[in-house]
Amino acid sequence: MSKRTALVTGGTGGIGTAICRELFTEGFTVVAGYNSGGNHDKARAWQEDQRAAGYEFDIAYGDVSDSESSRQCIDGVVETHGNVHCLVNNAGITRDSTFRKMTLEQWDQVLNANLRSVFNMTRLVIDGMLEERWGRVINISSVNGQKGQFGQANYAAAKAGMHGFTKSLAQEVASKGVTVNTISPGYIMTAMVAAIGDEILEKIASTIPVGRLGNPDEVAHSVAFLASDRAAFVTGSNLAINGGQHMF
Ligand code: CAA
Ligand code: NAP
Repeated sequence: MSKRTALVTGGTGGIGTAICRELFTEGFTVVAGYNSGGNHDKARAWQEDQRAAGYEFDIAYGDVSDSESSRQCIDGVVETHGNVHCLVNNAGITRDSTFRKMTLEQWDQVLNANLRSVFNMTRLVIDGMLEERWGRVINISSVNGQKGQFGQANYAAAKAGMHGFTKSLAQEVASKGVTVNTISPGYIMTAMVAAIGDEILEKIASTIPVGRLGNPDEVAHSVAFLASDRAAFVTGSNLAINGGQHMF
């Protein structure tokens, strides 16, 4: 079988890098999507670092919150690698604020980067997956989409929306060899979590039964499973990886 292609949005970020590495190890041709405000040198430097560590990745620029930019990104990937077999919708941002202080801009930015992006990117690869009669869409949501979080009305709404998307699309494409799943990580030590104030983060960490934050590899392993042939019967699911912080 020829190599399958995986595209990981936000692939150069904390969790994204771990996902790219894991999918590469599993035999995928891996393309890491990046935005970085158009700082291509930063992404190339990341690519070089990964190469030095033994990982060969292509990189693809695009703003996943923008449909035209998403289209250009996917066109480039398909031109170079053919159909995308596995899409990991991992790009995301936070703009935390209590609801009464939240601006429309903070709402729109978070909804667009975390949820509209899922529509933008998935819409552009789903026909290729159906043609191939094999595909994997893996949406990186959050524990806070499941339980809500003080200061995250925008983020929790977007992340909860991702799983509604997962469950609907999963039903539409299940008979054609395409699975659609959500992973909902808890607090994982990346730049996104490092931005929380120390005192608040300590309080949050104290609510995690496992007694620590997660690490990106602990999310990436599950992405690799869902992307594998072994997970062909898993679709529409939401896998919680949160150290026991939220059980349901
Ligand atoms: N529950 C209840 N009350 C709380 C609270 C909480 N969790 N946190 C703060 N408060 C209270 C304060 O005690 C204070 O009360 P008083 O007015 O009575 O003194 C009041 O709320 C402060 O309100 P403000 O609107 O002034 O809040 P702020 O501007 O100081 O801070 C915030 C708001 C920036 C949202 C801050 O609470 C915060 O950073 N919270 C963490 C949010 C969070 O978990 N983000 C996760 C980011 S990482 C991520 O998202 C990845 C992932 O998926 C897990
Ligand atoms: P991160 O290191 O900040 O990575 C976020 C990535 O998203 C970055 O690579 C960023 O790309 C990309 N991105 C943001 N906006 C984008 C846009 N408009 N277009 C294209 N790419 C964009 O944070 P992370 O922790 O790895 O987060 C990865 C995903 O996991 C996010 O969806 C996040 O919500 C989710 N998550 C994280 C945690 C956690 O605790 N860390 C928990 C649950 C869920 P550039 O830097 O190139 O702009």
